[in-house]
Order: sequence, then structure tokens, then C-alpha cells
Amino acid sequence: MDVDITLPAPEAEPQRQYYFMALLKQQLVPERAKKNGKEFLTACITTFGCQMNARDSEKLEGILETVGYHIVETEDADFVVYNTCTVRENANLRVYGRLGQLGKYKKKNPGMIISLCGCMMQEPLVVEKLKKSYHFVNLIFGTHNIYRFAEYLVRCMTEDRMVIDIWKDTDKIVENLPVDRKYPFKSGVNIMFGCNNFCSYCIVPYVRGRERSRKPEEIVAEIKRLVADGVVEIMLLGQNVNSYGKNLEEPMTFAQLLREVNKIEGLKRIRFMTSHPKDLSEELIDAMRDCEKVCLHLHLPLQSGSSRILKLMNRRYTKEQYLDLVDRIRAKVPDVSLTTDIIVGFPGETEEDFLETMDVVRKVRYDSAFTFQYSRRTGTPAAAMEDQIPVDVVKDRFDRLLAEVQEISREVTARHTHTVQEVLVESINEQDPSLVTGRMSNNTLVHFKGDASLIGTLQNVYLDECRGFYYMGTPVENS
Ligand code: SAH
Ligand code: SF4
Ligand code: F3S
Repeated sequence: MDVDITLPAPEAEPQRQYYFMALLKQQLVPERAKKNGKEFLTACITTFGCQMNARDSEKLEGILETVGYHIVETEDADFVVYNTCTVRENANLRVYGRLGQLGKYKKKNPGMIISLCGCMMQEPLVVEKLKKSYHFVNLIFGTHNIYRFAEYLVRCMTEDRMVIDIWKDTDKIVENLPVDRKYPFKSGVNIMFGCNNFCSYCIVPYVRGRERSRKPEEIVAEIKRLVADGVVEIMLLGQNVNSYGKNLEEPMTFAQLLREVNKIEGLKRIRFMTSHPKDLSEELIDAMRDCEKVCLHLHLPLQSGSSRILKLMNRRYTKEQYLDLVDRIRAKVPDVSLTTDIIVGFPGETEEDFLETMDVVRKVRYDSAFTFQYSRRTGTPAAAMEDQIPVDVVKDRFDRLLAEVQEISREVTARHTHTVQEVLVESINEQDPSLVTGRMSNNTLVHFKGDASLIGTLQNVYLDECRGFYYMGTPVENS
């Protein structure tokens, strides 16, 4: 984009941000490098939290690269960003811990810029604490305004004070800013932002705002660009993809979107995350069955197996409805791998409630499950509920659940032993460089002999042996 930085900044987006990027690249970044006695400036982004945050980080990185920063993996860089998560208390604690360490780096490199963004910054108490006790932080912004990153960078370099800008919510989606992907062959694609569900334990709707869907033509255009750039697998991202499109000017369902994306030539695999069981329609099950590019994997968060607790959680389905949904999915999409999220120790959870959760786990037999101890999030309805469960009880239930989940997972994962499966090669094996590591359609990891030339390609692999949650395989001739 051609920009004249001698003119004032335009008002319209994304042109405004391209103006600031040009200003940074042509003037501010080289000047700052010179002042700090460096040939070039380095930047490091650390991501906490979910795929949404990971995708946001790729956008921040795209802007940093565009303006001339060299991206590095270590935090002794000239610009450090923490993209934070606040879904559970320990996510917050990790950020404060790491931040203390960062303060020490900055003492050695006073020209360093430290920036915090992401979900944690949407909590007023967090920002108060940072203002009071972490003076070395230069820039704080939230989840709704990350598209303004270039503008904030300019302010950081031209104003001599902490720059803070947090928005409560937004109805805006700014398209077409630079993105730097972590993997050349796969990418996340946002299809919607925010969440309207207000599960009673969850802070996400408060920090990510109301549901907004991207237009299908923007999504399809982005995926086509990605495919032209070498991407073969995409993951459609949203807190609840099953309610995609409801607020569009021309409403569209997620199932319809999947069918559109499935038509994109050159694209090989489609994943999506996350599906709320209450909104998973028969139409979507049909689309999963019909669309050959859609992977044989469905992440279907259960949270609890007790209908009583589900009601308190505001999940709006019962144990029976969930199990019925699983049956209907398996009837139409045989061999689909199911994974889930489960919380133990929600306020008021009794041993009987917990056993209902164990019952669902035994009935569904998940390929894998993320298990969490309930974490009290200030401002959510559950935080104010009576009968918070003592830590030792939560821990005991958590251990029992984890043992059950892992045992089932080992058995279920092994069901493909001695079959040939298509594997998307992702990397050289970390322990043994004569091996490559890839993923099956159902997301299971497979290691087999190969070299870097295979990365990003689909290979047929014979699965020799299942070792817990991954396979060792042998490549077979691609016919
Ligand atoms: N939108 C997704 C999940 C986002 S958060 C969905 O609805 O499935 C990811 C997971 O974190 C949730 O599925 C839930 O299991 C867990 N989680 C959210 N809030 C939590 C809390 N307060 N304590 C413990 N786990 C929580
Ligand atoms: Fe949180 Fe529920 Fe929204 Fe998922 S659907 S982000 S668990 S409120
Ligand atoms: Fe965490 Fe925000 Fe994702 S709170 S889980 S990074 S939406």
C-alpha cells in the first residue's frame, strides 16, 4: 500500500494503520535502532491462552515484521509482547511471574518496550495493578483494539509515558491487516469474535465482548489467499462456531459456511473450534458427513455430566441431550474422534454430580479430554455462588477423572493400529531428527521416518504401533 507520511493520518481503517506502519518503517524504527546502537530491532511475542489468542499474536507479529522488526524467540528482545489469557487464575499468575523476570531484562536494555495485551487486560483490576506496581510496562491494550497496534507503537515511540487503551466492547471488524503465520502449511481463520453464552463460570464473554461474525466472502477470500500461499489445512475459529452467521446482514449458518469452504480448490483439510453442544444442528452433522475436507474430529465440550450442574453452569443442555447428540453424530459420521473439556469442582458439585460426569466419560469414550479444576473468576455468576468446593475435594475428583480419561484415551486412540492413514507432516521430530511428526485427520500424532522436505505434505502412513496418545508408523508409497 502506497502511503505518504508527510500527510496527516487518514481516519478510515485499515488505511490508518497502514499509514502508521509506513511511519514506523521509514522513520521511527530505524531512528530507534540507531539511538540504541543497533543495526536492527528485535521483537518477541509470547502467547498465553487459546487458539484465538495465538491467531491474534500472528496478527501482531505481521505488523511488527512489516515495520521492520526481526522476530526472535527469546525475551531479551527490544520489543516484548505478552498476549495474555485470564480464563483460569493460574493463567494470570503465570503472566505476573514472567513479567517480574522481564523487568530484569529491561534493566539491562533500557530501550526495551514492554507491551501487554489480550484477555487479562480487559479486567479493570488487572490494569490498576499494572499501573501501580509495574511501571516498566510501556503499552497496554485489550482484545477489541488489537488492529490499532501500529498506531499504539507510534505513540509508544513518540510519547514518554505508559500508553493504555482498553475498550469495553466493539461492533467493528477490521479486515486486511498483515499476518505472519507460525506454520507455512496450516493456519487458523477467525470466523467470529466474542461470545454471547455467558456460561456462569466463564469470563470469556466479559473480556471478548459480544458475538460478531465475519462476512462469508471475507472468510472465503482469506482462505483462498492462504491456499495460494501454501496452506493446506485451516482451522475455523470461534468461541461457539455453531452460532456463526446469526447476526450477519444476510444470515448464514455454520453448516452453509462449511460447505462453501469445502469447495475451495487446493485446500485439503478443514478443522473448526469450538462447538457448543446446545447449538450443534442436524444440518451441521450432515455437512460434516458430506464435506470430504472436514476432518474426522469434533471438539464437543461437556463441562459436566450432571444435568443439575449443567443448569447451574447455564449450558442449556442436559446429560441426556448431550449423549443423544453424540449418538446422532456417530450415526452419521462413523469413526469421528470426539474430544472434550470438563470442569470439576463447580460450586455445589456433589459426589453424585461428579459420578454423572464419570458416567458420561465412560459412555462417550473420548479420544482425549482437557480436564480443569474449577477456577473462581471475579465478576462471573458462579464466583458469587455459595458452596464453593474445598480444594482437596476438587483435587481428588480431578485425579480420578484424569486417570479415567487417560485410560480410555489410550484404548480409543489405539483403534487405528495396523491401518494406513493420511498424515499431514508438521515438523521434524524433536527427539529423533531422522523422524518426522504429523497429524491424522482425527488430530492424533504420528511419528515416522522422513525428512524436512515432507513438511506441509500429506503422506500415507501405516500405523505400526500405538504408544499411549501417539503412533509410530511407516510411510507407504503414495498411489
Ligand atoms: N468457548 C469454548 C471454550 C473456551 S474456554 C467452549 O465453550 O467450549 C476453554 C475451556 O476452559 C472451557 O471449555 C472450560 O472447560 C474451561 N474453563 C472456562 N472457564 C473456566 C473456569 N472458570 N474454571 C475452570 N475451567 C474453565
Ligand atoms: Fe465461555 Fe461458555 Fe462462551 Fe465457551 S461458550 S467461551 S465456555 S461462555
Ligand atoms: Fe484465554 Fe481469552 Fe482464549 S481468556 S482461553 S485467551 S479467549
